[in-house]
Amino acid sequence: MAHTRDELRAALTPLRAGGATIALVPTMGALHSGHLTLFDMAGSLADSVVASIFVNPLQFSAGEDLDRYPADLDADVRLAGSRGVSTVFAPEVAVMYPEGYSGVHVQPGPLGDRLCGPFRPGHFEGVLTVVAKLFGLVRPDVAVFGRKDLQQAILIRNMVRDLELGVRVEVAPLVREPDGLAMSSRNKYLSPGERRDAAGIHAALEAADHLFRQGVSDAGALLDRVREVLGQHPRLQLEYAELVDPESLDALASAGAESTIAVAVHCGSTRLIDNLVLGAASPDPRMVPVDG
Ligand code: PAF
Repeated sequence: MAHTRDELRAALTPLRAGGATIALVPTMGALHSGHLTLFDMAGSLADSVVASIFVNPLQFSAGEDLDRYPADLDADVRLAGSRGVSTVFAPEVAVMYPEGYSGVHVQPGPLGDRLCGPFRPGHFEGVLTVVAKLFGLVRPDVAVFGRKDLQQAILIRNMVRDLELGVRVEVAPLVREPDGLAMSSRNKYLSPGERRDAAGIHAALEAADHLFRQGVSDAGALLDRVREVLGQHPRLQLEYAELVDPESLDALASAGAESTIAVAVHCGSTRLIDNLVLGAASPDPRMVPVDG
């Protein structure tokens, strides 16, 4: 495991000298099965996989969960190693933002003001800044991100293109719990009652998908169905629901192929996001439950 720039360099230099290609999977730790599929995809795209584990203060606003974000570095390192990750880079905040850091940040542009943007001021600026720094430190050939954070993945793709960063960006499918809840490190915050209700988020998206498959394409009707099903769960409070083009994130008046419903929902004090491609040929993969 590497904690410092020197340790990271020492781990990467022999790989590069041997001509290995490198895939980076940036994470904030508290790894779950969704992350493991990112490692698997990364392993299929490059000779060597580097995972970063860093809870980036820059992407949290005041009052968010920075101070209680779940962390278990030993377990994360074991899990990452079991899925073929050759190097874990787990820097301290002072390594990523050392004294003398002058505060140059990456601005997400107008797409950063859509969907989650207005509700998490500064969030995407923080994400893009840390991802650009990780790209600079690791210099990966390819980087893999999860589809659950669709807006984040698109903004990172845009950043790479606009700033000519020369990293291939791949997006891995969203992975769900057996009851449909999108896998997230933040699911750990949910009480048993909240956890039961949280499955209603996917149920709401599926209900809209069902309508779409019956021929309904009007955004208003599809989003009303999402609200109606969420409304059956008292602990779920909708922040936003939008029908969007999955590449541009433009709001759509009418759904077609690949159109996606993106939502953010508060379940008690936990904020969860999810998205579903309407009419998808195959359902999102679900985690296989482990016995015992
Ligand atoms: O998706 C995440 O876990 C984070 O936003 C990321 C990409 C690791 C940047 O801190």
